[in-house]
Amino acid sequence: MALARYANELRSTTVPLPVLGSEPPHGVMSPEDLDRTVAVFYRTWRAGTLRLSDGGGPFGFDIAVALIAHEIIDAFGCDAIAETGCFTGDTTAYLARRYPDLPVYTCDTDPECSAFTARRLAGCPNVTVSRENSPAMLARVCAGHRRTFAFLDAHWGRAWPLPAELEVLDGAVALIHDFDIGHQRFSYDRYGGRSCGPALLARMSHPPARYFTVNPLASLPVPCLQTGRRAGVAVITAGLDPAPLDRNPYLQARVLGAACAGAAS
Ligand SMILES: C[S@@+](CC[C@H](N)C(=O)[O-])C[C@H]1O[C@@H](n2cnc3c(N)ncnc32)[C@H](O)[C@@H]1O
Repeated sequence: MALARYANELRSTTVPLPVLGSEPPHGVMSPEDLDRTVAVFYRTWRAGTLRLSDGGGPFGFDIAVALIAHEIIDAFGCDAIAETGCFTGDTTAYLARRYPDLPVYTCDTDPECSAFTARRLAGCPNVTVSRENSPAMLARVCAGHRRTFAFLDAHWGRAWPLPAELEVLDGAVALIHDFDIGHQRFSYDRYGGRSCGPALLARMSHPPARYFTVNPLASLPVPCLQTGRRAGVAVITAGLDPAPLDRNPYLQARVLGAACAGAAS
């Protein structure tokens, strides 16, 4: 049983043998982009280990999520990045250095977290850190840009801001962290009896017909070194055609109605 689980995990992290001189398949980043992503990702300090159950690091130290994010930013031609809930700024530090030509906005309601992240990122002129409620920041960023990439990761407080964040998305591709993808290797959040899963999307005032989740069996071009907690992620678009997500090699498409029929709240 344990070996079967290991084989499954290994399949999802196996490096496909490159064919020298061949072009990368459509939708997959160039070798230069991949090298840059890996270098910046694994050179980012994991300050979040202070409290985060995954030990901290960009995107929960899951390089698959960084690859998904890169394909999204590239395919949609995103003109801004917004992160909700910076904590100690591990993901902010990665995004700021990986995408120095894009404005990166992040916020936290905890004054110590926003102050720490602002100090940590003081050398990155493309970063704006604010102490505020995430839906307010997200609405402002969406209003000021045409194609925002939003990383939704604000939680822990008494109020769960994610439902309100989903309502203000506009002209955006959102990657929701800690989402129930229905796979035992990937964890997700629950707040006030509600799961961070498809039923939450169905309760949006304008639910997407389809959403996309990380594909646990996707071949990664580099190994995922997160041997602890991996979080499920879901991606939706608001006010943008989701077609580029069908070509993202690390995602799988799901029909929202079908997913909700089989899911508890
Ligand atoms: C899981 S941590 C974020 C980790 C961070 N994104 C990273 O990748 O390292 C969640 C953060 O969300 C913040 N938070 C909770 N509710 C919030 C809200 N309504 N608006 C902004 N931040 C919030 C918490 O204070 C906490 O620092």
